[in-house]
Amino acid sequence: MKKYPLSIIVASMFATAAIASTPVYLDENRPIEERVEDALSRMTTEEKVAMLHAQSKFSSAGVPRLGIPELWTTDGPHGIRPEVFWDEWDQAGWTNDSCTAFPALTCLAATWNPEMSRLYGKSIGEEARYRKKDILLGPGVNIYRTPLNGRNFEYMGEDPYLASKMVVPYVQGVQSNGVAVCVKHYALNNHEVNRHTTNAIVDDRALYEIYLPAFKAAVQDGGAWSIMGAYNLYKNQHACHNQRLLNDILKGEWGFDGAVVSDWGGTHDTAEAITNGLDLEFGSWTNGLSSGSKNAYDSYYLAMPYLKLLKEGKADPKVLDDKVRRVLRLAFRTNMNTRRPFGSLCSPEHVAAAKKIGEEGIVLLKNDKNILPVNTDKVKKIAVIGENAIKMMTVGGGSSSLKAKYELSPLQGIKNRFGDKAEIVYARGYVGDPTGEYNGVSTGQNLKDERDADEILTEAVETAKNADLVIFIGGLNKAPHQDCEDSDRKGLELPYDQDKVIRAIAKANKNLVVVNISGNAVAMPWVKEVPAIMQAWYLGTESGNAIASILAGDANPSGKLPMTFPVTLSDVGAHATGGYPGTPRNDGSNIVDCKYNEGIFVGYRWNDENKIKPLFPFGHGLSYTTFKYGKPELDSDSMTADGKIIVKVPVTNTGKRAGAEVVQLYIADTESSLPRPVKELKDFRKLYLEPGQTAVAEFEITPDKLSFFNDSKHEWIAEPGDFTAIVGSSSSDIRGTAGFTLK
Ligand code: GLC
Repeated sequence: MKKYPLSIIVASMFATAAIASTPVYLDENRPIEERVEDALSRMTTEEKVAMLHAQSKFSSAGVPRLGIPELWTTDGPHGIRPEVFWDEWDQAGWTNDSCTAFPALTCLAATWNPEMSRLYGKSIGEEARYRKKDILLGPGVNIYRTPLNGRNFEYMGEDPYLASKMVVPYVQGVQSNGVAVCVKHYALNNHEVNRHTTNAIVDDRALYEIYLPAFKAAVQDGGAWSIMGAYNLYKNQHACHNQRLLNDILKGEWGFDGAVVSDWGGTHDTAEAITNGLDLEFGSWTNGLSSGSKNAYDSYYLAMPYLKLLKEGKADPKVLDDKVRRVLRLAFRTNMNTRRPFGSLCSPEHVAAAKKIGEEGIVLLKNDKNILPVNTDKVKKIAVIGENAIKMMTVGGGSSSLKAKYELSPLQGIKNRFGDKAEIVYARGYVGDPTGEYNGVSTGQNLKDERDADEILTEAVETAKNADLVIFIGGLNKAPHQDCEDSDRKGLELPYDQDKVIRAIAKANKNLVVVNISGNAVAMPWVKEVPAIMQAWYLGTESGNAIASILAGDANPSGKLPMTFPVTLSDVGAHATGGYPGTPRNDGSNIVDCKYNEGIFVGYRWNDENKIKPLFPFGHGLSYTTFKYGKPELDSDSMTADGKIIVKVPVTNTGKRAGAEVVQLYIADTESSLPRPVKELKDFRKLYLEPGQTAVAEFEITPDKLSFFNDSKHEWIAEPGDFTAIVGSSSSDIRGTAGFTLK
């Protein structure tokens, strides 16, 4: 037998002893569920309760005695929020917490490119990881029911299928860093007016077909590790502790094994928080939403009041353990995973990602006379007009506000790109929101302009007159009642008299491009007077470069609208049916009942149903090249309930430059036992084509794409009968149809 030196034998004895004494919960070679059970078995009731609520503005307790770390959360969906004081919203003034500001999620949705979602999630997850955050409080996927909702810019549009497809890679990208997403705001937080007291009244068809799919996809396909309850009520229960939404649907029907996090101040009752599915309570006393003493974390609904009930035997320890298991699972997936990547912050890759997503999300709405791309052989003087050409947009708007490393303005981007070929002149055009501070973060801009509006307008018109090209950059901003949390817009119109400015400029110079920077649709009464219109979302750090790149044609626009642009508010279902913002109860409670009267007919579904022509339709977006669609070919004209039909659509780039086209597949159910929309988006493909190249968009039609939710049977049903596959370049620009039958 081989002889081993004594030192080896002794060392191996220690090693064996060490392995034997490593507790299961700390042994990363053991399955997470075993580690969860082992950790749970070692915890006292006090430690369990402490783990279920915040200990500071954005963190919750671990188990110090067992070396289980605290959980640190951070906003937001577009970038990592600057560090705040322990118990404040205001930034703590750190100097190492500036971030990359990525484009708003409406822009991401407008790319219609799941690979951009993956890139986005990976990049923002790396920034969260580098800043040592375990939970990213995003993405938001509430459906765009009204263009007045202050937070639509944080979400992914009006269609459940598009939002479902775009949210999954974002979730996977973030979580590949060992950082949890916290998909929000579950559910029915579709506007900001009365956001804490609105009781959403919605039928099950609209709930299951419109408002839940993106959350379900994030959980079941994305594997989301946490989800955030919404502020509003549903069935008279707050969404943060809601039997139906959390226990029956999320944890029951969908099998969610992660943790439910309250929105900050969304918890209102201990008994409901215990029994109705809340796992992690944040922001109850220090959110400005409900009074309370500072550092009142022990007073939280799931803190001392809960511990007291447990000690008195009035709360079920099994319910407690289920909550703790979910929080422990969250910990083992994040800060107790020592093998997770290390992340990175403000890297060139993240800046490039922000620019790329911005370029792919910008939507060219109109381009008559091929005003765009800018022809610098002819255009020697460019007049840039409008406040949004200079105003920083990464500060403000609520919890998604950021301290960006930098934000390149549209004007600066235009100067960088065209400055050596053309003279660039600027005029304010109008004064909107000259402020620039939020939670202690300041833009440092002084946008004060005391001149009166007429003087500013006259200057703009004069400036426009003498230019070869005018680029008006306006839209909304992050001020209250614009694109901003905790308030809604008061109308569809552009604010600050911009319509008047645009009209005056259009008269002065017909070579005009309007760049609308917003997270929401806006009215455009001047649409016929303006030859070129671009929808540029909040694009973050690389705003100016992304916009200039599209204006110059360095990048060919390929974005498509993720929401309908209505002509007027009464063209929107929620408004036409009196379903917004709801009716206050006169029973002494502060509840506002909001009936979703339009049901499943949201967005283009409403337009189709009521034959209302939109200003610009869902799925609309032009390119600098052109595309010809061939006839959609089906591999069969019928399918069985367990079968499928393959649809092939040849698309040719018939222009002179490369470009990308989003081929959209809608399905129409010719007859059904329950009302259905005229058509519904059920698939899409973004094809990148060289000039002259033809590629084939291929789709699989499976029964789930034919189904509707039968609320009386509480199940998805695909009824046999005739259907039509509708192929379009937008929801209105139909390029081909083909019928088939479900046997
Ligand atoms: C806010 C928002 C939520 C955010 C949280 C923390 O009120 O509703 O989206 O993540 O509180 O800031």
